[in-house]
Amino acid sequence: MNSREKEEYLREYEILKKKGKPFFPYAIMKDSVMMVIVTCVLIAMSLVMGAEQGPKADPTTTTYVPRPEWYFFYLFELLRVIKPPALVPLATIGIPTIAMVLLLLLPFYDRGHERIPWRRPIATISGILVIIAMGYLTYLGATAGSPTEIALETPSQFERGKQIVAETGCLACHSIGENGAHGGLGPDLTHIGTEIPPAAIKRSVEIGPGIMPSFRDLGEKDLNQVADYLSSLD
Ligand code: HEC
Repeated sequence: MNSREKEEYLREYEILKKKGKPFFPYAIMKDSVMMVIVTCVLIAMSLVMGAEQGPKADPTTTTYVPRPEWYFFYLFELLRVIKPPALVPLATIGIPTIAMVLLLLLPFYDRGHERIPWRRPIATISGILVIIAMGYLTYLGATAGSPTEIALETPSQFERGKQIVAETGCLACHSIGENGAHGGLGPDLTHIGTEIPPAAIKRSVEIGPGIMPSFRDLGEKDLNQVADYLSSLD
């Protein structure tokens, strides 16, 4: 912006300001009326339609799939893609905080007078990139496989065993491929079929070695299917 443009702008601003109305009471009145209307609409909607409450919380479930609200999906995805535990605080607290501080400090490090987007390429491109990144992470987070699913391909005769393993809470302690608790309480089971024989796998699930609970209650049929599935992992 050169000095002539600046003068022009200031003159225009002066004229507009004279034509305008004072903030109090005009703007305040408008805002207050709108606030009352919105509140009344909300009250009316909650009286007429009620609020959806979902199923009752069940503290004993092991198959609950925790999901954040959609507007947190990008953070959720960030947390999912960053595996090493030491980096998790950086990803979930560090990156958003750094971004927020950068935004707060913007008036101090961007001293340019320009306001037209294409004359501020760095700011415009950074903004667009952040929006694209958040959009992409949100999409990935929204379509992410649930923690009670195992992504590894399985021959069809082992599908049922895989489903039982996925839904019985094994993934809370064990990892299988991409899924489950990496660095959890139990060992990784991705290659368990090559490590111990099927009978030993079945026995482990049946008795629950160490701190692992026994899964005898699954019953003979399901236990066999679990053991067959795990034995197929190589
Ligand atoms: C509370 C955590 C926990 C859960 C839930 C759990 N496990 Fe384990 N699991 C462990 C731990 C810990 C070990 C290692 C125990 C030891 O050797 O002392 C283990 C060991 C095993 C082993 C033997 C691995 C080896 O290398 O010897 C198998 C197989 C196994 N678990 C399968 C399962 C299956 C299948 C399920 C679900 C039906 C399951 N686990 C659920 C914690 C768990």
